[in-house]
Amino acid sequence: MAKVVKAVRGMNDILPGEAYQWHFFEQTVQDWLAMYGYRCIRTPLVEHTDLFVRSIGEVTDIVEKEMYSFVDHLNNDRLALRPEGTAACVRAVIEHNLLYAGPQRLSYSGPMFRHERPQKGRYRQFHQVGVEALGYSGPDIDAELIVMCARLWQMLGITGLRLEIGTLGSAESRALHRTRLIKYFEQYAKHLDEDANRRLHTNPLRILDSKNPEMQPIIEQAPKLIDDLDEPSRIHFEMLQLLLREQGVQFEINLRLVRGLDYYNRTVFEWVTDKLGAQSAVCAGGRYDGLIEQIGGKPAPACGFAMGVERLLVLMHECGKEIEPLLPDAYIVHQGEQATSFAWKTAEFLRETGCRVILHCGGGSFKSQMKKADASGARYAIIIGDDEASAGEVTLKPMRLAADQARVDLHALSDLIKT
Ligand code: HAM
Repeated sequence: MAKVVKAVRGMNDILPGEAYQWHFFEQTVQDWLAMYGYRCIRTPLVEHTDLFVRSIGEVTDIVEKEMYSFVDHLNNDRLALRPEGTAACVRAVIEHNLLYAGPQRLSYSGPMFRHERPQKGRYRQFHQVGVEALGYSGPDIDAELIVMCARLWQMLGITGLRLEIGTLGSAESRALHRTRLIKYFEQYAKHLDEDANRRLHTNPLRILDSKNPEMQPIIEQAPKLIDDLDEPSRIHFEMLQLLLREQGVQFEINLRLVRGLDYYNRTVFEWVTDKLGAQSAVCAGGRYDGLIEQIGGKPAPACGFAMGVERLLVLMHECGKEIEPLLPDAYIVHQGEQATSFAWKTAEFLRETGCRVILHCGGGSFKSQMKKADASGARYAIIIGDDEASAGEVTLKPMRLAADQARVDLHALSDLIKT
């Protein structure tokens, strides 16, 4: 036997037995985005590597260790599978000059790729729904993004998420903070692990994110950004909190919230759960006022977030949300030459009226076809023999109710099935 080729590690198939849950999720997300006026943008799965290096940041886990970057040998381009959606969305907005028409509320969804160590809730191909509001500077849009998340959780039946918000201040206040952090951590250089030492002069903020237990006492005593915060950023953060309180959204302030991407300033936030083990963040984002300019656009503020679809689907299940698959209305069983031709006609006739119909293919006895009808989950079996066909009728058998089967005229059928 030929060797079986398996899927790439960390990249999952979504089989029919779970795809209907994805459809429910996607449909709910579409309705939700429309409620808030966010319009869809679709960008390629592959971009120039440089786009991600310049936006996410050179000294980040994503760019240093996790990006599927490769050389396209046909023309020597350095390309990468997108590890996230913000950079590509911003690139497209600049390239097509969308901000010329005013601020934009945009959204996207689809697969992202990161070469992480796969485990439950962490994959190498995973799916995000992302929302980006470009051209808006005020805390009102930050609040809108958070409030809309809260509504989505409600629509999806997800409970028990915690919202953490923080602020990173302006580029200037971060620069000041950075200098203070470097000075502070330099005193403890001998106690820092290899990763932290490497980041000490390039990205000291990321040291705060370290999970190394031995470094925690040093990290806890490190200078806090809030003490170096500039006044406009402080006001922005306070306004955001006020708006969230007004809307009844509960939050915790986490001034140590460090995101794994470098483009953020001011507001950052994460929705976290205790129900998914180590992979606790289901949705995260923040403000990135410098990014558009940084990758070649006219300066414009922006804010957004992205959620991990796989994690949210598990969470919906954990929260007891039952999603019913969309089952067929009818399964048509048929035997005989005239019957088969009438069965085709019946199937198309019913579909024309919006019914979901499976037409049995592959022959077999009535008994074996009825077993398939039952297994399909259809509410009705439609039985057609030559006898029915010559009368222009079918036998309609309810499969889920204790009701008798009956001969029915083709034209009466769709009303009966739909009720
Ligand atoms: P992120 O925090 O890197 O942010 O990812 C957002 C969400 O994607 C995470 O909270 C998590 O639910 C999910 N996620 C990330 N990596 C994986 C993985 N390996 N497997 C499964 N799920 C994963 C961003 O990507 C930013 N672009 C968010 C943003 C949009 N900020 C502003 N606008």
